[in-house]
Amino acid sequence: MKTDTPQTVYLKDYTVPAYLVDTVDLDFNIETGGTTVTATLAMRRNPAAASQPLILDGDELETLSVTVDGHQVPFAATASTLTISDLPESFTLQTVVRIDPDKNTRLSGLYRSADGYFTQCEAQGFRRITWFLDRPDVMSTYTVTLHADQATYPVLLANGNPVDAGQEANGRHWAKWADPFKKPAYLFAVVAGKLDVLKDTFKTASGRSVQLAIYVEPGKLDQCPHAMAALQKSMKWDEERFGLECDLDHYMIVAVGDFNMGAMENKGLNIFNTKYVLARSDVATDVDFENIDRVVAHEYFHNWTGNRVTCRDWFQLSLKEGLTVFRDQEFGADLHNRQTARIREVRGLRAAQFPEDAGPMAHPIRPASFVEINNFYTSTVYEKGAEVIRMIQTLIGRDGFRKGMDEYFRRHDGQAVTCEDFVAAMAAASGFDFTQFMRWYNQSGTPHVAADGYFDAESKTYTLTCTQSNTRASDEQPYLIPIRVALFAEDGTLLPGSERLLQMTATTQSFVFNEVSEEPVPSLLRDFSAPVTLDFDYTPEQLTLLLAHESDLFNAWEAGQRLASTLILDATAAIAAGQAPVWPGSFVDAARRLLQTQAQRGAAFVAEALTLPGESTLAEALDVVNPDALHAARNALRRHLAEQLEGEFSGLYAGLAPNTAYAPSSEQAGRRALRNVCLGYLLELDTPAVRQLALQQFRGADNMTDQFAALSVLANVNADTCPERDTALADFYARWQHEALVVDKWLAVQSTSRRPDTLATVKTLTAHPAFDIGNPNKVYSLIRAFGANLARFNAADGSAYAFIAERVIELHDRNPQVASRLARCFDRWKKFDASRQAHARAALESIRDHAGLSRDVLEVVTRSLGG
Ligand code: TRP
Ligand code: ZN
Repeated sequence: MKTDTPQTVYLKDYTVPAYLVDTVDLDFNIETGGTTVTATLAMRRNPAAASQPLILDGDELETLSVTVDGHQVPFAATASTLTISDLPESFTLQTVVRIDPDKNTRLSGLYRSADGYFTQCEAQGFRRITWFLDRPDVMSTYTVTLHADQATYPVLLANGNPVDAGQEANGRHWAKWADPFKKPAYLFAVVAGKLDVLKDTFKTASGRSVQLAIYVEPGKLDQCPHAMAALQKSMKWDEERFGLECDLDHYMIVAVGDFNMGAMENKGLNIFNTKYVLARSDVATDVDFENIDRVVAHEYFHNWTGNRVTCRDWFQLSLKEGLTVFRDQEFGADLHNRQTARIREVRGLRAAQFPEDAGPMAHPIRPASFVEINNFYTSTVYEKGAEVIRMIQTLIGRDGFRKGMDEYFRRHDGQAVTCEDFVAAMAAASGFDFTQFMRWYNQSGTPHVAADGYFDAESKTYTLTCTQSNTRASDEQPYLIPIRVALFAEDGTLLPGSERLLQMTATTQSFVFNEVSEEPVPSLLRDFSAPVTLDFDYTPEQLTLLLAHESDLFNAWEAGQRLASTLILDATAAIAAGQAPVWPGSFVDAARRLLQTQAQRGAAFVAEALTLPGESTLAEALDVVNPDALHAARNALRRHLAEQLEGEFSGLYAGLAPNTAYAPSSEQAGRRALRNVCLGYLLELDTPAVRQLALQQFRGADNMTDQFAALSVLANVNADTCPERDTALADFYARWQHEALVVDKWLAVQSTSRRPDTLATVKTLTAHPAFDIGNPNKVYSLIRAFGANLARFNAADGSAYAFIAERVIELHDRNPQVASRLARCFDRWKKFDASRQAHARAALESIRDHAGLSRDVLEVVTRSLGG
């Protein structure tokens, strides 16, 4: 256990590295019982830094020897630093350390998983492999040699190109790799294992051939073709949209079942969570297929935005992550359905990032300080970061943005840079002044815009007045907010010439529309042009008009969400006061008309529009959340729609039955999504007939999308006895128990269930052979997903808080990154009543008071408790 007290690191304290590492030569001798790592580093003093001792980073290393230019030298070591003084201007440093990957449960550094050894070095895992200047602005050229038993570990991989390989005594073999590109240590990777491989090639625009390879657990090759196709599409897309060609001869993806996050962009050797590689129509859903496209693209796009140009320091994380998420979003939009992709992005932002920005872990997309950098791989840095990049493109246009990207690479290829450097390239290429815009990088919280309209019949003008406020800190400066607007006439037509991009810069600002001859309905923040909340005092009739007629489908959807939110929030108050909710007939009529627009606006859109806002999104609009009343209100509206539109839902369900063989195309996926939304509404009626319908779909489905949708609706059935539910859950497990990723779905469908006995079910499942607290995917599916189940996690007696706190404590030493993510379930505890708050506080304190808590969990819990 480390004894160092956690230190806060500040962006303002950045200094250049004292030494540079030009070349790195690593030798890994992998044996049972431990791995010996010999590192030979060609180093020199940084001419830009003052003369000072060399301080290397390390973590859980057993140091066997340290030499400088071949001689043993005196050194001072702590658990995390190795200090050497009196060094020449340039020298060769050699260290030999022993590490124990078999005991590395943190999945950071070199670790063991079922089929071999894998690495994860971002952000600071390389120091768990060898002593190093483990910071992204130290970039070096690497050569790597791996030695291991040939029969057990036939595949030996590292970044770059294979140079040589051979046999050794005792059935061992070795392989040597060289990476021609300079890189920071966080992009280093090696793999040694028994893996199957799918190979293919890609011919770049300039005619070079890149060898592609996807390595997976033996027997899983038939689940690789989708990821391979996604990789090839990504490579082509980046050439076409951004003129960016692959610079590598070999591009490898390795899938591993034990992985803390989604995937990692190591140079030429991406390592992926199996969840974002493996897919076959009977085991993966439409959403899984689409996520694989996006994640494969994301990691590939990092090769330019992250690897060729990297971050100066970890505060700049959004430089690569926000930009790369924006790029993968655009790829997904081009590949699938642009408008529903946008709807889903915003749904995700509101469910996760807005609460984060309003809670104890709020931070700007570029944080000013951190205790543990792993805690800042957040939806703020990633998803809000992508929104900030999107706003830049909105302000300077697609062509301007492309010129800015060209300029960024022209200036900074091969460098480690800051967010200012990126924005400066955008400014230089477009002439746009981004001075005020930079506040998006430095201020936290979701800005709020209150809009008000005034129509003057005499002057035929419509004046839109907007006032912005930052919900977190009133002393912060106003943002530059791009607001896309159009005006609609009473008959639903768009007023010609009314489409505008407003640039709001002041706290209060008015915008005048001329030649407006009737009181218009404004459609504000079209395509979600800025990550803000916006209020306008719409009447239900105006929202119904936008839902029916707005051609920007994002804002059509938004109008429907606004209507539904108001109804659910009003009903929540009514239920809390012991009254029955009332539902206006106009809402049901609007939903009915929506169903009829499926042919013109697409099934995928209608499915999104029929999906009510989620409970955690709705909760953000309340000062004090009554989770039971909110849950009851939302479900009551679902049931009301089901009762009123039963005929429509059944008709559509029958009409959308599959008519061709399964393919994960967006057209088919849209039909399935809408059909399954209909099934979900029908199940609200919980009649024997609809239960049978769901069970029939469960049994008859030839694809996981439909099978899992049926299982999900059955898993929510609230009745004490529901044999259909029991049968489906049992059959599903019996059929798929050997497919780890499908078992994850089976766990998640139970932990996210609406049923009141969900906590008991989850507790039982933690003892099921299918569960493994050492596997992040299992923990996320069963425990964290339960923590996001608003009504069940926030049970009035605090039992679920205590349960999650126990799991955090169980995990904090074993895997601090996963434990810390789990601790984030408590983020919104202050939004509930005093009694729940007392329970949550006690649970958080029980974590905080646990001896030897990891930095990761300590930072989250201290911030949550307000320290
Ligand atoms: N850079 C990775 C990505 O954006 C993120 C990542 C993968 C990561 N594994 C990690 C971050 C482990 C921290 C710790 O895809
Ligand atoms: Zn990334």
